[in-house]
Amino acid sequence: MEIATSILSAKNALERTRIVKELNNSDTDYIHFDVMDGKFVSKKHLCIPELVRLIKLSTKKNDVHLMVEDPLKYIKQIKNLNVSNITIHVEINQALRGIIDYIKESNINVGLALDLDTNVDYIKPYLNKIDLVLIMTVKAGKGGQVFQTKALEKIKKIPSNIKIEIDGGVNDKTVEYVKKADIIVSGSYILSDIENNIKNLRQ
Ligand code: DX5
Ligand code: ZN
Repeated sequence: MEIATSILSAKNALERTRIVKELNNSDTDYIHFDVMDGKFVSKKHLCIPELVRLIKLSTKKNDVHLMVEDPLKYIKQIKNLNVSNITIHVEINQALRGIIDYIKESNINVGLALDLDTNVDYIKPYLNKIDLVLIMTVKAGKGGQVFQTKALEKIKKIPSNIKIEIDGGVNDKTVEYVKKADIIVSGSYILSDIENNIKNLRQ
């Protein structure tokens, strides 16, 4: 199981810089960048220049979670940077195949994200094209929410050759539910004590 630390709860650019530098010296496997356009989800977070700046600052693997209606606008600006995974939401009203192919052509792992109440069947048509499925265990759009166990039933419907990433409300208690996942995302829990809480999640 790999750990991706979300920096969504950082309040401003100064704090984001401080936290990315701290994470560079931590045991996190990925830095998880939540990008929000204020359309797909109501909040805005990480405009393109700020996302580019932070990816360049990071010395860890970078995991970009696009909660945006127009992913290509963002992908075009980061596809030549050090990005390991780009995840787009299956709920957006765009032709997903073209975006998935575009990410793969850039030699970046492509993920499809399922929001909390989205049926796992929606990703069936894409299973032969994607590298990972991001299962939201909270409603997409903000950090610090409570882990929703109802999302876990989706895990068993994902073929074993596809990586599973769990995102939302993960802490030292709820991680017990998702030990089988390939990547777990945690934001508020890890950021409250980076060194100790990453260690707690790994135990
Ligand atoms: C929510 C984001 C999550 C969130 C995780 O829309 O996708 O990555 O930041 O933060 P916590 O761990 O606080 O739920
Ligand atoms: Zn996320």
